[in-house]
Amino acid sequence: MFRAPEKDTIPAPDFTRRTRPGVVLARSRRTTVAGTHRVPGDKSITHRALLLAALAPGRSSLRGALTAEDARSTARVLRQLGAELSPLRPGATVEVTGHRRFTQPRARVDCGNSGTTARLLLGLLAAHRFSSVLTGDASLRRRPMRRVTEPLTTMGARVVQASHDGLPLTITGGRLRPLEWRLPVASAQLKSALLLAGVVGGVPVTLHEPAASRDHTERMLRHFGFDVESRVGGVIFKPTGRLAPFEIDIPGDPSSAIFLLASAALADAGTIIVAGVGINPSRIGYLATLVRLGVAVAVSPGGNTFGEPFGALTATASSMHAIDVPADEVPGVIDEIPMLACLAARARGTSRFFGLAELRVKESDRLALLAANLRAVGVDASIDGDDLTVTGTAKPLRGRVITGGDHRIAMAFAVLGSQSGSRIDVDNPACAAVSFPGFAATLAGLFTAGN
Ligand code: S3P
Repeated sequence: MFRAPEKDTIPAPDFTRRTRPGVVLARSRRTTVAGTHRVPGDKSITHRALLLAALAPGRSSLRGALTAEDARSTARVLRQLGAELSPLRPGATVEVTGHRRFTQPRARVDCGNSGTTARLLLGLLAAHRFSSVLTGDASLRRRPMRRVTEPLTTMGARVVQASHDGLPLTITGGRLRPLEWRLPVASAQLKSALLLAGVVGGVPVTLHEPAASRDHTERMLRHFGFDVESRVGGVIFKPTGRLAPFEIDIPGDPSSAIFLLASAALADAGTIIVAGVGINPSRIGYLATLVRLGVAVAVSPGGNTFGEPFGALTATASSMHAIDVPADEVPGVIDEIPMLACLAARARGTSRFFGLAELRVKESDRLALLAANLRAVGVDASIDGDDLTVTGTAKPLRGRVITGGDHRIAMAFAVLGSQSGSRIDVDNPACAAVSFPGFAATLAGLFTAGN
């Protein structure tokens, strides 16, 4: 269903001047974007499909799966836990042979940079009667896990954590009790971890959420016959289903598509289409934000795959004006804030983003890095508590961006640097590979010849 990228785009010549160790994006002429483009498979759906396939006894097939570093982290840990997975290669179907139960890992389970891997796995391991030690890279080891381990402990798992709230930790699973829990934050990772504990433990789970978060886990579980009721303020899960081998077509990731749409918004002229991308309403809240900024965007639904709607997104070069993003909108655009804040840097007036506390515990302290990097390239940006203020400017943006190894910071500033007149040096562009393999080539391919 999802075809390989169409060859209707012309890579822009003399776009990227490479230096060591960073990449300087410098462009002097007018920029025009065009073409129909694809983005890699959805990261959230890929993680979930891999995890569920590993526990579905038999052979499952995943087409269009993300093959980026985060997805490889999930594949690697699942092999350690006894599942057989074919290599994650772009364009190749991932074949997973799952077993009803994981086997005890012989070494530490290293989740790399992936918070989704660590948290969702904790939920699954909570119902397995053995001990595992979970760890990750320096960024992941700093990220909060108690929000997940506390309710899992209430369900019956045993967790031994170091004094700081993060990894490594040891989890010993067991027989689980039903759970009713009030989530302290709107987090799909936390919600999914607890639902997955309910699946493997065979117990009901009722969750109260302060705001809605992405609902891929709920949609997938319904496919397996689980009774999952999503209502305003929470979700009620009953263990009525059973995991069985499946086939899935994974759509493109809307959180990757925003980098292409934003490139169009920032260009001097042109329109681009991103085809075959997921348009689950819990993921495309950012389209409404783009519209408020003044960006011309459109959605055209294409169909449904495994309970997930997909279609095409279109964006056109636009002149933008400042907006306010209230705190209650943030969970719906959590991964897109870096790009939206960079767009605000090119919008007329002062934009304010409220209630960004969760950004501080992503792959980096995204709030601090966003403000510091915007200032580093010549934009007036400041933080007050958990709020970010960005005043747009029309002058060429120049300076060096520190990514802190954070893929979304790297990509947002690379897009900002692709504007005419700007010259932005991104210190570690390679970290985009965490979620978007081939990002630099895709970005270069948006611009028509002569740019
Ligand atoms: C994800 C949920 C989000 C998001 C992350 C992926 C998921 O985090 O930031 O990139 O797949 O569940 P939270 O909703 O947990 O904040």
